[in-house]
Amino acid sequence: MAIVTGANSGIGLYTATALAERGYQVVLAVRNVERGRIAMERIADAVPDAELQQVRLDLSSLRSIKECAAELLTSVPAWDVLVNDAAAKLVPERLLTEDGFEWNFGVNFLGHFALSGLLVPGASDQARIVNVTSLSARNAKIRFHDLRWDNGYRPGKAYAMSKYAQLIFSRELNRRCRDERDSAYPSSLRSIAAHPGRGLPPVGRRRRPSSRYTGPDSIVFAATDPGLIGGELIGPSDRNQLQGAPAAVRPPAIPDEGVTALRLWRIAAQLTRVPW
Ligand SMILES: NC(=O)c1ccc[n+]([C@@H]2O[C@H](COP(=O)([O-])OP(=O)(O)OC[C@H]3O[C@@H](n4cnc5c(N)ncnc54)[C@H](OP(=O)(O)O)[C@@H]3O)[C@@H](O)[C@H]2O)c1
Repeated sequence: MAIVTGANSGIGLYTATALAERGYQVVLAVRNVERGRIAMERIADAVPDAELQQVRLDLSSLRSIKECAAELLTSVPAWDVLVNDAAAKLVPERLLTEDGFEWNFGVNFLGHFALSGLLVPGASDQARIVNVTSLSARNAKIRFHDLRWDNGYRPGKAYAMSKYAQLIFSRELNRRCRDERDSAYPSSLRSIAAHPGRGLPPVGRRRRPSSRYTGPDSIVFAATDPGLIGGELIGPSDRNQLQGAPAAVRPPAIPDEGVTALRLWRIAAQLTRVPW
């Protein structure tokens, strides 16, 4: 059983379809049920025997995240894959979520942090969480002094910070699951980050893509490859991580990672009131 956030479009839809092809029952966690219904039809067209359901999830609302998790924990026996894919992208003006978080940080990072924490009790004993990040995380840092971007909001930088936070979260979660002294986190759970490089091939281009792989294959690989042990960053394997076959790639430098990750985790748990 796989749960994919943002499964109604783009990379989320590609990933949900690929998981259905591989025989997973797929739950599309989407914020608009009509778009979810259309996506389920598209997946069913491609994979006629797909087993699909959808659940409503608005990552800009802690109330919605909690309702979604409660519904999944009762309706889904045990999940094997959670793909944290949904994202707000390039929000032109600074915007706050209903809980008062800056939109990129709130939706992309805090929302998935809370959802993952709430869903962990329903994880199977071979579960993995895939956190979709971005090459833009390379140039980001966490503005601990101003997480709400009260000053100097820049759309690209706010997006990149949220994707950097997802990467740090992904690695820290995996570290906690591997720590034998820490029984709060399931030792069988693997947490894997993935980025799509260039992303989806541009629609309508006449020229054939120079690679037979598309960016979303990295996310599918992270969700399904049995050889992954957790903690990896998966991306296209060419030198610049822009295209090529998916593989474990070098993550961006994370200065003082242990301290930064602990601080980020504590703040996320406080803000979301999901202490895990
Ligand atoms: N495409 C790229 O080139 C690229 C590059 C690097 C990283 N990425 C990452 O890959 C992932 C998917 O990107 P994409 O290009 O496929 O994006 P996309 O086509 O814009 O899809 C984004 C998805 O997120 C959903 N979403 C947005 N806000 C939400 C919210 N508040 N609550 C719940 N769902 C919400 C959208 O739902 P609606 O349809 O309802 O808006 C949509 O399903 C993202 O994490 C992105 O950061 C993409």
